Amino acid sequence: MSSGIESILTETRVFPPFPNLVQGAAISGMDEYRALCQEAEQSPDEFWGRLARENLAWTTPFKQVLDESEAPFYRWFGDGEMNVSANCLDKHLDTPTANKTALIFESDDGKVSTVTYKQLHARVCQFANGLKSLGHRTGERAIIYMPMSIEAVVAMQACARLGIIHSVVFGGFSSKSLHERTVDVGATLVITADEQVRGGKSIPLKSAVDEALAMGGCDAVAHVIVYKRTGGAVQWQEGRDLWMDELSAGQPDVCEPVPLNAEHPLFILYTSGSTGKPKGVQHATAGFLLWALLTVKWTFDAKDSDVFWCTADVGWVTGHTYITYGPLAAGLTQVVFEGVPTYPNVGRFWEMIQRHKVTVFYTAPTAIRSLTKAAESAPDYHPREYDLGSLRIIGSVGEPINPEAWMWYYTNVGRERCPVLDTWWQTETGAHMITPLPGVTPLKPGSCTLPLPGIAAAIVDEAGEPVESGKGGFLVVQRPWPAMIRTIWGDPERFKKSYFPPELKGAYLAGDGAQRDADGYFWIMGRIDDVLNVSGHRLGTMEVESALVAHELVAEAAVVGRPDATTGEAVVAFVVLKRSLPEGAEADQIAKQLRDWVSKEIGPIAKPKDIRFGENLPKTRSGKIMRRLLRVVAKGETVTQDVSTLENPAILDQLSQAR
Ligand code: WT7
Repeated sequence: MSSGIESILTETRVFPPFPNLVQGAAISGMDEYRALCQEAEQSPDEFWGRLARENLAWTTPFKQVLDESEAPFYRWFGDGEMNVSANCLDKHLDTPTANKTALIFESDDGKVSTVTYKQLHARVCQFANGLKSLGHRTGERAIIYMPMSIEAVVAMQACARLGIIHSVVFGGFSSKSLHERTVDVGATLVITADEQVRGGKSIPLKSAVDEALAMGGCDAVAHVIVYKRTGGAVQWQEGRDLWMDELSAGQPDVCEPVPLNAEHPLFILYTSGSTGKPKGVQHATAGFLLWALLTVKWTFDAKDSDVFWCTADVGWVTGHTYITYGPLAAGLTQVVFEGVPTYPNVGRFWEMIQRHKVTVFYTAPTAIRSLTKAAESAPDYHPREYDLGSLRIIGSVGEPINPEAWMWYYTNVGRERCPVLDTWWQTETGAHMITPLPGVTPLKPGSCTLPLPGIAAAIVDEAGEPVESGKGGFLVVQRPWPAMIRTIWGDPERFKKSYFPPELKGAYLAGDGAQRDADGYFWIMGRIDDVLNVSGHRLGTMEVESALVAHELVAEAAVVGRPDATTGEAVVAFVVLKRSLPEGAEADQIAKQLRDWVSKEIGPIAKPKDIRFGENLPKTRSGKIMRRLLRVVAKGETVTQDVSTLENPAILDQLSQAR
């Protein structure tokens, strides 16, 4: 469980909704919220059916709202047809939104370019026509490995338009991770860039694709399409590799959106679970878009005049739901940012809010915590030095936000006039699940507050029985919702086992521990499985362990999380080498080698912050690694727990030496 729990449980501050945000809000006041919750509970089919008819454009209207016959493989609006891209772009063409700015792109070095909805539609159509001209069709899978750019949004939307199922791989992942995902989805197409630019540095992407495809098993990949970002040198395989701009050039700027069954997979996005192999979370067309759009409307209280900025990368679900799909379906103007919050200085976010007059800002606690620290040592770049008067709503996502970070964000960024929306959700849930609403919910720092209408969130014990308020338990969702994960790509058994364990009586198991207070507010306590949350990104301890043991020097490894003031949790690895115990400079050198290795195997986010060597790991007599002891050691604390079941108690001293 994560840090900050003590302070969370003693938190008593409450901030009522601001009257100016209540009037005219999408859900205006507690009464309207309760009425929607009641409608959803009493007649879920009417509730979701009404919302799907009101918010989505259907080419074939659905008759059945929910098909539970194959539960937990739920089907939503399953006899209807629609197209996500048409619902994000075409629907605006005959409205004043057509000439409104859709995307304001700001590059790492501060260059700004914009596209209107009409222009974005044309670019998506041209690229989709280009893909069609190469023979790519509905149902194929595309890997997208791109920097933050208008082109990344174009690539995703073009896939959605044709019913090509995309799987975006975050640009920080290694060629090995890219390879694993390319093989798992059976991709026929990879869309990438020559290089990405972050913090003034160029990082190659195309060469990582070349490496991944050379690892074998990717013969289905017929084309690699490359967005020219920097013009840096790339290797070229004639016939397979094509430039994105050349492919689009001369293509007609109209491309009929393919009508797709509501359950047609829209995308697959990999996330860590408690085994070494990441799970390909599969989302469906209509249900996903419905909830992406509705949560933009409800949670962010979308207004035509908004300038919306979600700082996530499209490589994560947050970028899918709150960049590529939800805000476009809502017709908002949004900021898309290529770079990092600390370049050219730590005031970059605040300067961009000022420059683009951002009204809704959505970021992660890890960014807030690191910018808090930075602002103290660089007072010129403190948010108070900027005009942030355009902001009306500020949000947080990815990990628990500790009350201190919440208060700093509320005071210094929101200037005590913007609600902080602490939104709880997951890759699997598709969109927000438990979150305050600007015109409704009194806020408590550190709590994601109350479930959205239609979301049957609850806290239960191991037997699936409800847990009383003030007691911890498993966070579950007791009824299906439209944006839920449909399956794990290629592994339906794992889907059932991971999310619908039989003892929970059909409820969806989120994998988080949580509790509710006397007001029914949810307080998330952290993961209950072997998944860490590092800077808001999920990382399986087993994934890091398998990377470590794949190194020729390593005999055995155990990985645990340790609370970290900036990244939430940090990776600590306990390693047994095949050779004698290294000491001093040699140990430092091997630790560095292993860190670089993990970075190359998975990606820099998985790099252990701390590596400890031992001749063995603490094990029970039956040979089970005692992780709870390792967690204590990792924190630098003395083990006070019972170690009588431990086969080799002396090992704990050895493992206490940090590297
Ligand atoms: C896990 C999901 C949702 C998009 C980004 C992460 C943690 C997420 C919160 C929050 C406390 C949170 C949970 C969850 N988490 N948001 N507001 N408060 N914890 O998506 O990579 O699928 O990770 O992130 O532990 O299970 P993800």
